[in-house]
Amino acid sequence: MENNNTQTITSVSGDKLNTDDLFYKDVVKGLTATPKRLESKYFYDANGDKLFQDLMNCDEYYPTNCEMDIFTTQTGALAKAIMGDGDAFDLIELGAGDATKSSHLLKHLIDKKANFTYLPIDISENVISYLNITLPVTLPGISIQGLNGEYFNMLKKAASISDKRKVVMFLGSNIGNMPVEIAEGFCRELRSHLSAGDMALIGVDLKKNPKTVLAAYNDKGGITKKFNLNLLERINRELNADFDIDQFDHYATYDPESGACKSYLISLIDQHVKLNGKENIHFKKDEYIYMEISQKYTVEQVTQMASATGFKHLTHFFDSKKWFIDAIWVAA
Ligand SMILES: C[S@@+](CC[C@H](N)C(=O)[O-])C[C@H]1O[C@@H](n2cnc3c(N)ncnc32)[C@H](O)[C@@H]1O
Repeated sequence: MENNNTQTITSVSGDKLNTDDLFYKDVVKGLTATPKRLESKYFYDANGDKLFQDLMNCDEYYPTNCEMDIFTTQTGALAKAIMGDGDAFDLIELGAGDATKSSHLLKHLIDKKANFTYLPIDISENVISYLNITLPVTLPGISIQGLNGEYFNMLKKAASISDKRKVVMFLGSNIGNMPVEIAEGFCRELRSHLSAGDMALIGVDLKKNPKTVLAAYNDKGGITKKFNLNLLERINRELNADFDIDQFDHYATYDPESGACKSYLISLIDQHVKLNGKENIHFKKDEYIYMEISQKYTVEQVTQMASATGFKHLTHFFDSKKWFIDAIWVAA
């Protein structure tokens, strides 16, 4: 039901914009906070999905290559670890993206005639319709049901569809897009959706040479910059805003002590931005918008995270450089 302040107007993209919409509310809340912030889950509209794919293919962005190394060279061992004693299971992937890495595991499981259903979950509608259409063609025989929405809402939906054993994948160091305490809360919540014996397969980017980390979030070709600025363009399109994209720059920083790599957009001038012809947001010159964290961990921290959140660490798969791990945890 709409409250009295709710308005419905037409956005630049032609869609009806409801000021009660969560995206609108989150953006207004973030841009009127001190310091200003935007939530990285909103990076992923169709343009953002494409830019993220470009980023995964750029030389400096090592996490994809590292995890791909694990998924292509240790596919059999990964499959064996999650197949248990061969019972039927649901393979749920949180934030599946284009599933490039997990497709190798899916193919192996199909070849081994494993009895499983693949349930990719993603907030991007574009991603889910892409997977629902393409995977049955590229991976004949796959049983797939894509779920479009937030991680835990869709995990609940998955549980209402099937009560089979669950294996939940969370790849690409998506867990790093949360500060450590929030990530712990996330793992606890994940555990609360699982039964004893269910599994989690979690990809985590490890601490390494700080220059290597920083370069991945500050690539020379400027893809990370475009990826961040795309969120302002999305806000212009979908929320009737008037950000002048050329008046913002991208800044990334990495602190090797805490392992936090953070991205910001910096206002290059004193300026006002209007949202929905209504909210008037003031940016001082050099003021920043906090966009995203990409937290890096040590192996010990990952193991501790498992035991602190109700899981038992089962095994770790490392890439050949030991820059990244895929950890398998069992719900205790
Ligand atoms: C960094 S990409 C990683 C994609 C893929 N897992 C990989 O490793 O290449 C993050 C993905 O998670 C999705 N995502 C981000 N926040 C989400 C949320 N709160 N609920 C559901 N999906 C989310 C995005 O749409 C995007 O496809």
